[in-house]
Amino acid sequence: MESVDILLTEDGSHTLYSNKFHAAYHSHRGAVNESMIVFIQAGLEYFREKNPGKHIFVFEMGFGSGLNALLSCQFSQQNLVKMDYTGIEAFPVSKDIWQSLNYHDDDENKSLFYSLHSCAWNTSEKISPFFHIEKKEGKLESFENTRLFDIIFYDAFAPGTQPELWEENMMQKMYDMLNEGGIMTTYCAKGDVKRALKKVGFTIESLPGPIGKREIIRAIKPKLTH
Ligand SMILES: C[S@@+](CC[C@H](N)C(=O)[O-])C[C@H]1O[C@@H](n2cnc3c(N)ncnc32)[C@H](O)[C@@H]1O
Repeated sequence: MESVDILLTEDGSHTLYSNKFHAAYHSHRGAVNESMIVFIQAGLEYFREKNPGKHIFVFEMGFGSGLNALLSCQFSQQNLVKMDYTGIEAFPVSKDIWQSLNYHDDDENKSLFYSLHSCAWNTSEKISPFFHIEKKEGKLESFENTRLFDIIFYDAFAPGTQPELWEENMMQKMYDMLNEGGIMTTYCAKGDVKRALKKVGFTIESLPGPIGKREIIRAIKPKLTH
Protein backbone atom coordinates (compact mmCIF):
# COMPACT_ATOMS: atom_id res chain seq x y z
CA MET A 1 0.00 0.00 0.00
CA GLU A 2 1.05 3.55 -0.73
CA SER A 3 2.65 5.48 2.18
CA VAL A 4 0.78 8.78 2.37
CA ASP A 5 -0.03 11.53 4.84
CA ILE A 6 -3.26 13.52 4.94
CA LEU A 7 -2.95 17.30 4.58
CA LEU A 8 -5.53 20.07 4.75
CA THR A 9 -5.70 22.42 1.74
CA GLU A 10 -6.81 26.05 1.75
CA ASP A 11 -10.42 25.37 0.75
CA GLY A 12 -10.82 23.09 3.76
CA SER A 13 -10.63 19.82 1.79
CA HIS A 14 -8.01 17.16 2.32
CA THR A 15 -5.26 16.07 -0.01
CA LEU A 16 -2.70 13.29 0.27
CA TYR A 17 1.07 13.63 0.30
CA SER A 18 2.96 10.72 -1.23
CA ASN A 19 6.07 9.73 0.68
CA LYS A 20 7.13 7.64 -2.30
CA PHE A 21 6.96 10.46 -4.86
CA HIS A 22 7.42 13.38 -2.43
CA ALA A 23 4.44 15.13 -3.99
CA ALA A 24 0.91 16.15 -3.06
CA TYR A 25 -2.09 14.75 -4.92
CA HIS A 26 -3.71 18.18 -5.35
CA SER A 27 -2.99 21.90 -5.15
CA HIS A 28 -2.42 23.14 -1.60
CA ARG A 29 -4.69 26.06 -2.57
CA GLY A 30 -7.70 23.72 -2.57
CA ALA A 31 -8.17 20.09 -3.59
CA VAL A 32 -11.91 20.13 -4.27
CA ASN A 33 -11.66 23.54 -5.92
CA GLU A 34 -8.94 22.28 -8.28
CA SER A 35 -10.78 19.08 -9.19
CA MET A 36 -14.00 20.97 -9.86
CA ILE A 37 -12.33 23.41 -12.25
CA VAL A 38 -9.91 21.09 -14.05
CA PHE A 39 -11.99 17.94 -14.38
CA ILE A 40 -15.67 18.62 -13.71
CA GLN A 41 -16.07 22.05 -15.35
CA ALA A 42 -13.41 21.88 -18.09
CA GLY A 43 -14.13 18.19 -18.71
CA LEU A 44 -17.58 16.88 -17.87
CA GLU A 45 -19.61 20.08 -18.14
CA TYR A 46 -17.99 21.07 -21.42
CA PHE A 47 -18.44 17.63 -22.97
CA ARG A 48 -22.05 17.27 -21.84
CA GLU A 49 -22.96 20.65 -23.35
CA LYS A 50 -21.49 19.55 -26.67
CA ASN A 51 -23.04 16.08 -26.47
CA PRO A 52 -26.37 16.36 -24.64
CA GLY A 53 -27.87 13.05 -23.60
CA LYS A 54 -24.77 11.01 -24.41
CA HIS A 55 -23.67 8.17 -22.15
CA ILE A 56 -20.17 9.35 -21.15
CA PHE A 57 -17.12 7.10 -20.87
CA VAL A 58 -14.42 8.60 -18.62
CA PHE A 59 -10.87 7.42 -18.03
CA GLU A 60 -8.90 8.74 -15.08
CA MET A 61 -5.13 8.52 -14.87
CA GLY A 62 -4.50 8.06 -11.13
CA PHE A 63 -7.62 7.10 -9.12
CA GLY A 64 -5.75 8.03 -5.91
CA SER A 65 -7.99 9.54 -3.24
CA GLY A 66 -11.14 8.89 -5.28
CA LEU A 67 -12.06 12.58 -5.23
CA ASN A 68 -12.51 12.92 -9.01
CA ALA A 69 -14.57 9.75 -9.09
CA LEU A 70 -16.84 11.03 -6.31
CA LEU A 71 -17.35 14.43 -7.99
CA SER A 72 -18.09 12.67 -11.30
CA CYS A 73 -20.57 10.32 -9.64
CA GLN A 74 -22.34 13.33 -8.10
CA PHE A 75 -22.32 15.08 -11.48
CA SER A 76 -23.89 12.05 -13.17
CA GLN A 77 -26.71 11.97 -10.63
CA GLN A 78 -27.34 15.70 -10.55
CA ASN A 79 -27.45 15.93 -14.35
CA LEU A 80 -29.08 12.55 -15.03
CA VAL A 81 -26.13 11.58 -17.21
CA LYS A 82 -25.15 7.92 -17.52
CA MET A 83 -21.45 7.45 -16.96
CA ASP A 84 -18.92 4.61 -17.07
CA TYR A 85 -15.77 5.59 -15.23
CA THR A 86 -12.48 3.74 -15.47
CA GLY A 87 -9.76 4.77 -13.04
CA ILE A 88 -6.25 3.34 -13.13
CA GLU A 89 -4.08 3.33 -10.03
CA ALA A 90 -0.66 1.76 -9.51
CA PHE A 91 -0.48 2.43 -5.77
CA PRO A 92 -3.93 2.26 -4.12
CA VAL A 93 -4.33 4.01 -0.78
CA SER A 94 -5.24 1.96 2.28
CA LYS A 95 -8.69 1.82 3.86
CA ASP A 96 -7.66 3.72 7.00
CA ILE A 97 -6.53 6.59 4.76
CA TRP A 98 -9.56 6.86 2.46
CA GLN A 99 -11.91 6.49 5.43
CA SER A 100 -10.28 9.58 6.97
CA LEU A 101 -10.78 11.88 3.97
CA ASN A 102 -13.30 14.71 4.36
CA TYR A 103 -14.80 14.63 0.85
CA HIS A 104 -18.37 13.82 1.92
CA ASP A 105 -20.64 16.17 3.80
CA ASP A 106 -23.70 13.97 4.28
CA ASP A 107 -24.66 10.32 4.61
CA GLU A 108 -25.55 9.95 0.94
CA ASN A 109 -22.17 11.20 -0.26
CA LYS A 110 -20.37 9.19 2.39
CA SER A 111 -22.11 6.06 1.17
CA LEU A 112 -21.14 6.84 -2.46
CA PHE A 113 -17.52 7.51 -1.47
CA TYR A 114 -17.29 4.31 0.54
CA SER A 115 -18.82 2.32 -2.35
CA LEU A 116 -16.29 3.79 -4.79
CA HIS A 117 -13.42 2.69 -2.57
CA SER A 118 -14.67 -0.62 -1.28
CA CYS A 119 -15.95 -2.03 -4.57
CA ALA A 120 -13.84 -4.70 -6.27
CA TRP A 121 -10.88 -3.84 -8.48
CA ASN A 122 -10.60 -4.87 -12.12
CA THR A 123 -14.31 -5.36 -12.72
CA SER A 124 -17.15 -2.99 -13.54
CA GLU A 125 -19.28 -2.17 -10.48
CA LYS A 126 -22.61 -0.34 -10.30
CA ILE A 127 -22.44 2.52 -7.78
CA SER A 128 -25.75 4.20 -8.63
CA PRO A 129 -28.37 3.98 -11.39
CA PHE A 130 -26.27 6.47 -13.37
CA PHE A 131 -22.73 5.51 -12.50
CA HIS A 132 -20.55 2.45 -13.02
CA ILE A 133 -16.89 2.31 -12.09
CA GLU A 134 -14.05 0.00 -13.04
CA LYS A 135 -10.93 0.55 -10.95
CA LYS A 136 -7.89 -0.93 -12.65
CA GLU A 137 -4.95 -1.77 -10.44
CA GLY A 138 -1.71 -1.34 -12.39
CA LYS A 139 0.45 1.11 -14.24
CA LEU A 140 -0.76 3.33 -17.03
CA GLU A 141 2.22 2.26 -19.10
CA SER A 142 0.91 -1.31 -19.33
CA PHE A 143 -2.83 -0.51 -19.52
CA GLU A 144 -4.51 -1.87 -22.64
CA ASN A 145 -7.87 -0.33 -23.43
CA THR A 146 -10.67 -2.49 -24.74
CA ARG A 147 -12.87 0.49 -25.63
CA LEU A 148 -12.51 4.17 -26.52
CA PHE A 149 -13.27 6.96 -24.04
CA ASP A 150 -14.95 10.37 -24.35
CA ILE A 151 -12.99 12.12 -21.61
CA ILE A 152 -9.61 11.54 -20.01
CA PHE A 153 -8.78 13.13 -16.66
CA TYR A 154 -5.00 13.24 -16.81
CA ASP A 155 -4.09 13.54 -13.13
CA ALA A 156 -0.56 12.16 -12.94
CA PHE A 157 2.04 13.71 -10.67
CA ALA A 158 3.72 16.67 -12.35
CA PRO A 159 6.44 16.27 -15.00
CA GLY A 160 9.11 17.22 -12.47
CA THR A 161 8.14 14.14 -10.45
CA GLN A 162 7.18 11.62 -13.15
CA PRO A 163 8.52 12.93 -16.49
CA GLU A 164 7.92 9.59 -18.20
CA LEU A 165 4.15 10.06 -17.88
CA TRP A 166 4.18 13.31 -19.85
CA GLU A 167 6.30 12.37 -22.82
CA GLU A 168 5.09 12.18 -26.37
CA ASN A 169 4.56 8.39 -26.35
CA MET A 170 2.20 8.70 -23.37
CA MET A 171 0.29 11.60 -24.97
CA GLN A 172 -0.01 9.45 -28.12
CA LYS A 173 -1.42 6.64 -26.00
CA MET A 174 -4.05 9.02 -24.55
CA TYR A 175 -4.92 10.30 -28.03
CA ASP A 176 -5.40 6.75 -29.27
CA MET A 177 -7.66 5.94 -26.31
CA LEU A 178 -10.13 8.73 -27.15
CA ASN A 179 -13.09 8.84 -29.48
CA GLU A 180 -12.96 11.52 -32.16
CA GLY A 181 -14.28 14.69 -30.50
CA GLY A 182 -13.11 13.34 -27.16
CA ILE A 183 -11.19 15.50 -24.71
CA MET A 184 -8.42 15.26 -22.18
CA THR A 185 -8.12 17.77 -19.35
CA THR A 186 -5.14 18.32 -17.09
CA TYR A 187 -3.88 20.84 -14.56
CA CYS A 188 -0.44 20.88 -16.19
CA ALA A 189 0.16 23.63 -18.75
CA LYS A 190 3.92 23.28 -19.20
CA GLY A 191 5.26 24.20 -22.64
CA ASP A 192 6.80 20.76 -23.23
CA VAL A 193 3.51 19.05 -22.45
CA LYS A 194 1.57 21.37 -24.77
CA ARG A 195 4.07 20.71 -27.55
CA ALA A 196 3.79 16.94 -27.08
CA LEU A 197 -0.02 17.14 -27.12
CA LYS A 198 -0.01 19.17 -30.34
CA LYS A 199 2.53 16.90 -31.97
CA VAL A 200 0.36 13.80 -31.56
CA GLY A 201 -2.67 15.60 -33.05
CA PHE A 202 -4.58 17.27 -30.23
CA THR A 203 -6.02 20.77 -30.55
CA ILE A 204 -5.13 22.66 -27.38
CA GLU A 205 -7.20 25.13 -25.39
CA SER A 206 -5.66 27.03 -22.47
CA LEU A 207 -8.28 27.84 -19.83
CA PRO A 208 -8.07 29.89 -16.64
CA GLY A 209 -6.96 27.67 -13.78
CA PRO A 210 -7.99 27.39 -10.13
CA ILE A 211 -6.58 29.78 -7.51
CA GLY A 212 -2.80 29.83 -7.75
CA LYS A 213 -2.65 28.43 -11.29
CA ARG A 214 -2.72 30.70 -14.31
CA GLU A 215 -3.88 28.14 -16.85
CA ILE A 216 -4.96 24.57 -17.37
CA ILE A 217 -5.28 22.55 -20.55
CA ARG A 218 -8.15 21.04 -22.47
CA ALA A 219 -6.86 18.91 -25.34
CA ILE A 220 -9.40 17.97 -28.00
CA LYS A 221 -9.10 15.07 -30.43
CA PRO A 222 -10.43 16.53 -33.68
CA LYS A 223 -13.29 14.93 -35.54
CA LEU A 224 -11.78 13.72 -38.77
CA THR A 225 -13.67 14.21 -42.00
CA HIS A 226 -14.18 10.80 -43.56
C1 LIG B 1 -1.54 13.57 -8.58
S1 LIG B 1 -2.08 12.06 -7.86
C2 LIG B 1 -3.80 12.21 -8.25
C3 LIG B 1 -4.68 11.15 -7.72
C4 LIG B 1 -6.20 11.32 -7.88
N1 LIG B 1 -6.62 11.73 -9.19
C5 LIG B 1 -6.80 12.13 -6.78
O1 LIG B 1 -7.54 13.07 -7.08
O2 LIG B 1 -6.56 11.82 -5.62
C6 LIG B 1 -1.40 10.87 -9.04
C7 LIG B 1 -1.84 9.44 -8.84
O3 LIG B 1 -1.22 8.62 -9.86
C8 LIG B 1 -0.80 7.39 -9.26
N2 LIG B 1 0.28 6.85 -10.11
C9 LIG B 1 1.60 7.17 -10.09
N3 LIG B 1 2.27 6.54 -11.09
C10 LIG B 1 1.34 5.80 -11.75
C11 LIG B 1 1.40 4.94 -12.89
N4 LIG B 1 2.56 4.73 -13.54
N5 LIG B 1 0.27 4.35 -13.33
C12 LIG B 1 -0.91 4.57 -12.66
N6 LIG B 1 -1.04 5.36 -11.57
C13 LIG B 1 0.07 5.99 -11.13
C14 LIG B 1 -0.38 7.80 -7.88
O4 LIG B 1 -0.33 6.72 -6.99
C15 LIG B 1 -1.45 8.82 -7.52
O5 LIG B 1 -2.58 8.19 -6.97
